[in-house]
Amino acid sequence: MKLERTLVIIKPDAVARGHAGRILSRFEDKGLRLVAMRLADIAPDTAERHYAEHRAKPFFGQLTAFITSGPVVILALEGVEAVAVTRKLVGATLGRNAEPGSIRGDFGMSQAFNLVHASDSPASAERELSLYFQPGDYIREADSGSYRWNYEFADGKPN
Ligand code: CMP
Repeated sequence: MKLERTLVIIKPDAVARGHAGRILSRFEDKGLRLVAMRLADIAPDTAERHYAEHRAKPFFGQLTAFITSGPVVILALEGVEAVAVTRKLVGATLGRNAEPGSIRGDFGMSQAFNLVHASDSPASAERELSLYFQPGDYIREADSGSYRWNYEFADGKPN
């Protein structure tokens, strides 16, 4: 099992509604480790690079306008299979279809105002993390002892 890192953005709707702390807690409760975090406004050119794969979609303009419309909380989370685990905690894109218990299922109704962005693959995570964080933004390499009760360690590897 390999530790992965993934990018999460707590979007402007969630920050404006005062849910940033409770959303962050969902990830911490699960055992994902916070390895970098920033409260920021996303610049328009960064938003366009982030959502480049949606450039041809009719909602591209609305998407970039929304993500740049107010402060967001940008997180880097670490854990075994962190990308997939985080996507599952976040839930389906459309809030009113998202499973109760997921963040979108518990906090929202909308498709566009869907509270959280989470990278959809390890390759996307690597690309997206590099848009928002430099190597020096991350916590110093933590000792695996901080995962002592999150995973069983066999041969020094978390499982
Ligand atoms: P996110 O995970 O940030 O990645 C792409 C985003 O596009 C997605 O969340 C939705 O918020 C947004 N999105 C997807 N479909 C639509 C749509 N039809 N109209 C507006 N926004 C959309």
